[in-house]
Amino acid sequence: MSNLITLADPAAMRAWSAERHRRGRTIGFVPTMGALHAGHIALVADAARRCDDVVVSIFVNPLQFNEDADFNSYPRPIDDDVAACTGARVAAVYAPTAAAMYPDGYQTRVVPGALADLMEGPMRPGHFEGVVTVVTKLFGAVQPDVAIFGQKDYQQLAIVTQMAADLDTGIEIIGHPIERDPDGLAQSSRNVRLTPEQRSAAVCVPRSLDAALATAARRGSTPADVVATAMNVVEAEPLAAHEYTTIFRADTLTEVTDFAAIERRPGSVRVATAVWFGDVRLIDNRDLFDE
Ligand code: PAJ
Repeated sequence: MSNLITLADPAAMRAWSAERHRRGRTIGFVPTMGALHAGHIALVADAARRCDDVVVSIFVNPLQFNEDADFNSYPRPIDDDVAACTGARVAAVYAPTAAAMYPDGYQTRVVPGALADLMEGPMRPGHFEGVVTVVTKLFGAVQPDVAIFGQKDYQQLAIVTQMAADLDTGIEIIGHPIERDPDGLAQSSRNVRLTPEQRSAAVCVPRSLDAALATAARRGSTPADVVATAMNVVEAEPLAAHEYTTIFRADTLTEVTDFAAIERRPGSVRVATAVWFGDVRLIDNRDLFDE
C-alpha cells in the first residue's frame, strides 16, 4: 500500500507542503524531467536522509529545450516514473501540466548571470534561463527546505545554487555526485535513445575523463595536454563525435589554461566533456585532481 500523492497544479502543491510544514516536517525536493533512472533515485535517497518528506517533480520544461525535436523525443514514461517514486518512498510527485506552468498570458523569466555565459551557455542559447525560471517556479510551489541537484549537470548546479542565494529563497542546495553504470557511463535519461552499438561505444566518454585525470596527475602536464589526451580517446571511437572537452575552475566555471594559476587539490578544478552519438548528446565531468 502506497501513500504517494500526485499533485498537478501549483496551488495544490503549495497547500500540501504548507500542511507538512505546519506539522513541523521538513521537505526535501528533487526536481526532474522524468524518465527516472538510478541516478534520480539516488538523489531521492539523499533527500530522504536529510528531510522528513521527499517531493519529486516531473515536468519536461519546454522553456529549456533548444530544439523542438529534442523536446518532442524526450521520453515520458509517467506510469513507470510514478511506480519508481512509490518504490523509493517519495511522499508526493508534483507533475504539473504545461498549461498549469505556463498559462496564456504567462510572461516572467528569471535571468541567470555570468555563470550561464560560459561552457554550455553559448552553445544552448536560452537554456539556463529556461532552467532557472522553471526551478524558481518549482521552488515556489514545493516550498522545500532542501533541494538536491546532480553534479552530472555541473553548470546547472552552480547556476541554481547562485540563484537560490541571490533570490533569498532560504533553500539549501545540495550537489549529489554523479551516479554511473558499472562500465562508468553516467546515467542519463538520454541513454535509452542509444542503439546497443552506440551504448557500447559510449564508454569512451568516462574513459576519456579517466585519461584526463591520469594526464593531470603527471608532473609538468598542461591543461592543453589533458584536453588532447581526453579528445584522443573519444576520437578513436568511430561512433562518437567529440563536441568539446574543457578544464574549468569548480567555483567560477572559468576556463583553466595554466595549472600554475590554480591550486592542484581535490575540488578546485573540473574537466567536462560533451560527445554526440548519432543525434544523442551525452555530457560528463569529473573532479580533475580527485584523490
Ligand atoms: P533531469 O535531466 O531529469 O535531471 C534531474 C536531476 O537529476 C538533475 O539535478 C540532474 O543533475 C540529476 N541527474 C541526472 N543524471 C544523474 C546522474 N547520473 N547522477 C547524479 N545526478 C543525476 O536536470 C533536469 O532534469 C532539469 O534541468 C531540471 C533541473 C528538472 C529543470 O527542468
